Amino acid sequence: MREEPTSYWDYLHLPQLLDLQHGIDRDESELAQDEIHFIMVHQVFELWFKLVIHELRLASRELASPQVPEEKIPFVVHHLGRINTILNHTISQFDVMETLDPQDFISFRDKLVPASGLQSYQYRILEILLGIESTNPDYGESILAGLQKMTDQTSSGRHVWGAVAAARAEVSLRMALHEWLVRTPIDPVGHGARVEIAERFLQSYLSGYERSLRETLTTIMTGAEPGKLEARLAEGVSQVANFLNAEDQPEEARARTKLVRAGILFIESYRDLPLLAWPRLLLDTVVVLEERLLLWRTRHVRMVERIIGQRIGTGGTAGAGFLEQRNKGRIFPELWQARTILLSRKYLPPLTQPEFYTFEESRLS
Ligand code: HEM
Repeated sequence: MREEPTSYWDYLHLPQLLDLQHGIDRDESELAQDEIHFIMVHQVFELWFKLVIHELRLASRELASPQVPEEKIPFVVHHLGRINTILNHTISQFDVMETLDPQDFISFRDKLVPASGLQSYQYRILEILLGIESTNPDYGESILAGLQKMTDQTSSGRHVWGAVAAARAEVSLRMALHEWLVRTPIDPVGHGARVEIAERFLQSYLSGYERSLRETLTTIMTGAEPGKLEARLAEGVSQVANFLNAEDQPEEARARTKLVRAGILFIESYRDLPLLAWPRLLLDTVVVLEERLLLWRTRHVRMVERIIGQRIGTGGTAGAGFLEQRNKGRIFPELWQARTILLSRKYLPPLTQPEFYTFEESRLS
């Protein structure tokens, strides 16, 4: 039982928090003129990252349960939505960073070397918890190896690496989302195993896609030699067939990937059905999350270029060029790819039992 009243400053540990801007030498008077600005902007970003990671864990854990009652989907969407708002907010904070004049930065930049944003372990944890290691197989080698090396050389590094290693053992948002998508009941009247039902849906989706593409090509290729239209049609259909049949995946992963892709297309295509409204919002919120991350990186690299041009980074990379490369990968590529092949209603496979997707008839999990 506390004897003192709870003050605002004790509740928030403000004296401790406000005594952390003194720089590596622990002496605020030793800081260069704009160094406190540089330190504080980074600290504020790191605080936001901490909250983003917390929200992400809340969402992923809920989504990873073996049964996700449909009333839990709004919870997941809510917490992912908060991440999206925070990311948006932090994107605008680069404006504050940019008030750092290039010449003023040069006056203290050498003090940092070899410290670098590359070692923002919370940013790594965020990427890992989203699932970056599934779609970026050399992530450990290309990104984490450098971080691990630095953790070996610093006394505080053990704690840092422990946190990263723990995140790697957790369920990622991508894993949880896929597990949930695999269970999407696709037109459940079709009898048979989940895989067969999904297969039937994908094949009829492909036929719908072919009809739709033929119609588009017939309009835009009026007057072209007949063989050209057929060739372009065959090429377009074959690309989509590769995606639907998961031919970009190793043999052993194909059946599951097909279920995931069928789930995405099904939810995106029939989003007007009452029970699919929240699942569709969930998929959209994940796409927004990835979009915000891409925008975050884009904003960061433009700011970097404005302040240090094409100089090498304090972490030893090629600087802005390296950051542009990092912005190419996607963690949820299938959610983006599905949007390329969405069909207008008249080409969609008809549902045999749409009433299953009303609240009275069914429960999604
Ligand atoms: C003067 C301001 C800044 C400059 C010049 C700058 C520069 C750079 C450079 C050159 C890199 C590439 C790695 C290297 O070789 O060091 C990098 C990476 C990074 N920076 Fe910054 N940065 C600045 C501010 C910030 C801020 C405010 C944050 C917020 C936390 C941040 C977070 C990061 C992160 C997370 C990475 C790793 C990115 C990735 O792996 O995709 N940086 N930064």
